[in-house]
Amino acid sequence: MKTIIEPFRIKMIEPIKLTTREERKQLIEAAHYNPFLLRAEDVIIDLLTDSGTSAMSAEAWAAIMRGDESYAGARSWYRFRDAVKDIFGFEQVIPTHQGRAAEHILFGVMVRPALIVPNNTHFDTTRANIEFFGGNAMDLPCVEAGDLDSDYPFKGNMDIAALESLVATEGPARIPLIMITVTNNSGGGQPVSMANIREISRIARAAGIPFYLDACRFAENAHFIKRREAGFENTPTIDIAREMFSYADGCTMSAKKDAFANIGGFLCTNDADLALRERNALILTEGFPTYGGLAGRDLEAIAVGLYEVLDENYLDYRLLSTRYVVNHLRDLNIPVVAPAGGHAVYLDARRFLPHIEPLQYPGQALAVELFIEAGIRGVEIGTVMFGADPHTGEERPARLDLLRLAIPRRVYTQSHMDYVLEAIHLVWQRRDDIRGMVIVQAPKFLRHFSARFNWI
Ligand code: F0G
Repeated sequence: MKTIIEPFRIKMIEPIKLTTREERKQLIEAAHYNPFLLRAEDVIIDLLTDSGTSAMSAEAWAAIMRGDESYAGARSWYRFRDAVKDIFGFEQVIPTHQGRAAEHILFGVMVRPALIVPNNTHFDTTRANIEFFGGNAMDLPCVEAGDLDSDYPFKGNMDIAALESLVATEGPARIPLIMITVTNNSGGGQPVSMANIREISRIARAAGIPFYLDACRFAENAHFIKRREAGFENTPTIDIAREMFSYADGCTMSAKKDAFANIGGFLCTNDADLALRERNALILTEGFPTYGGLAGRDLEAIAVGLYEVLDENYLDYRLLSTRYVVNHLRDLNIPVVAPAGGHAVYLDARRFLPHIEPLQYPGQALAVELFIEAGIRGVEIGTVMFGADPHTGEERPARLDLLRLAIPRRVYTQSHMDYVLEAIHLVWQRRDDIRGMVIVQAPKFLRHFSARFNWI
């Protein structure tokens, strides 16, 4: 069969409020042209993020009713810990309220001023947390990632030669850890190959540098390996995931992505001494080590979700439905990052709006227009997010200017995707009339969340 169907039925619904174009113009103006500042109920299709926005299953909701809310040593903690250990394989598991809390604790114990943390591409929260501790968050994407059109299957890979030369010139004393983000969210949602993970691990181990996975979308990455990398066709996706983690010394994880949970995260390591220091930091900011800022019911939902997300029928559907949108856009010659990633569609705003300079934020302009056109909310990943130097505040164009349309897991149907396609096409047809933007007001860190804009 060619038709893509959702491999689940809908048991409970949330109504969507429909708005007119005139209403949307007023709403986005009142939100200072920043989609983060809209009320969610004023959005028709909310593609701001795939984080914490998933629909949970009947099983996960049932598990929530089993939540043991004991302060210490709750049953729910053991279920959670056992699921994480079974899939991720690390000895020490530290629960946190979400991914960035895990990052803050990890970098708080490992990063000092002027130390360098390489990654394929840091996500905004990992970058900001490293910079918060004075470190230098360095992106080393593979060369193929620079060509947005090529169909290279693993554009999330790290540039191995660049990593080797960094390790040779700086040495392990200046590199407290090496990270790889699976899939590479800021680089277009592209997967990392097993071969690349093995190579990084080899370099890290030879130099004695710990190697961590930013594991938010580990299941999507593992399934891309199954579908794209020779030798894994017949390996169960769960075993591919286990192999990915076997090459690492630890990971940070946001359970708001590939665990279908609405909140949660964790930090893992095989280093017991490090874990002790991390737990001390955890108690200060998150909570006791057997709940780490989560309710027992959250731990239960994550324990169920981690297995559900590895269901191969679900993962096939997930990757196919994203590819459906990307391939239709390519057929219309609309610039989009190819090949399709897992969790999101990335419009190439710089080529969509070539008359708008990077420092006039083409990704932001496109986000605003898509909202006005059809009530669709996406997020700029470009010069607004990454363009301000954290030390000097000076502006420079980001490497790419993208508009990310992230697809919440199991929430929207294929007909919603057709609506999104039609809306993008309508904006494309009137692209020459779209103007650039200026920032009217912005904070120093993570400015994209709260900055205020206006049209030029
Ligand atoms: N790492 C990656 C690759 C992420 O995509 C995110 C979150 C985090 C870490 C932090 O996790 O939100 O639980 O604190 N990404 C969301 C997004 C916010 O929309 O892509 P968190």
